[in-house]
Amino acid sequence: ACGDDGDDASAEANGDFNLVQDGVLTVCSDVPYPPFEFEDSDAPSGYSGFDMDLMQEIADNLGLEMSVQAVGFDPLQSGTVFAANQCDVGASAMTITEERQENIDFSDPYYDSLQSLLTSVDSGISSIEDLDGRNVGVQQGTTGQSFAEENLPEGASPQAFPSDGELWPALQAGNIDAILQDFPVNYEHEQDDEGYAIVETYETDEQYGFAFGKDDRPELLAAVNEQLAELREDGTYDEIYAEYFEV
Ligand code: ARG
Repeated sequence: ACGDDGDDASAEANGDFNLVQDGVLTVCSDVPYPPFEFEDSDAPSGYSGFDMDLMQEIADNLGLEMSVQAVGFDPLQSGTVFAANQCDVGASAMTITEERQENIDFSDPYYDSLQSLLTSVDSGISSIEDLDGRNVGVQQGTTGQSFAEENLPEGASPQAFPSDGELWPALQAGNIDAILQDFPVNYEHEQDDEGYAIVETYETDEQYGFAFGKDDRPELLAAVNEQLAELREDGTYDEIYAEYFEV
């Protein structure tokens, strides 16, 4: 009965969502960013991951199809893709920051994160101080990049990559000496390849939110928050969480 109520309410509200495409929730994301978003031909949208699965549930509950648009993270976090009306919502492991809030409305937080340093097990690097004279990869426009700018020793050379799809191969190829980025993604790489390890984590108290263009879709934002609360209450959030993270 609970689900039925939700469906009726959403069908009514649907007209107010001001969607890019009628009947479709168009979701922008920077892929790959495992375990939050990655291609998956078995998934209805073609993408899986913590963000993608949550969004698919939300779309289903709102009676919408989900279509994923792969975009760069930098133009997403700066609000450019929203200004161009490319999507209704961004689901991209995006940290809620004051700076971004100038151009972006965030949903309620749905994940807590922190920064981390990933390097090869034989790099001789065991802390951020050891990065003097080393090349450090970050993703363009991320909180990892800001953290690097503020905390790297003076002799370190930060190098910005457009996506984790280039960052991680660059580390494996030895073109960079370390990656500074969100812990869960570095952790995923550490699990995938025993030659690499996280040597330090940094409690940056980050929280991820789903992103909307500033004042673009307040009704959709409210509906997403309502759905998030419901998914937490009915156990769906925990189920999806357990699929991607050690509890
Ligand atoms: N949480 C970090 C930030 O908001 C990194 C997010 C990168 N996300 C992605 N899908 N590539 O800056």
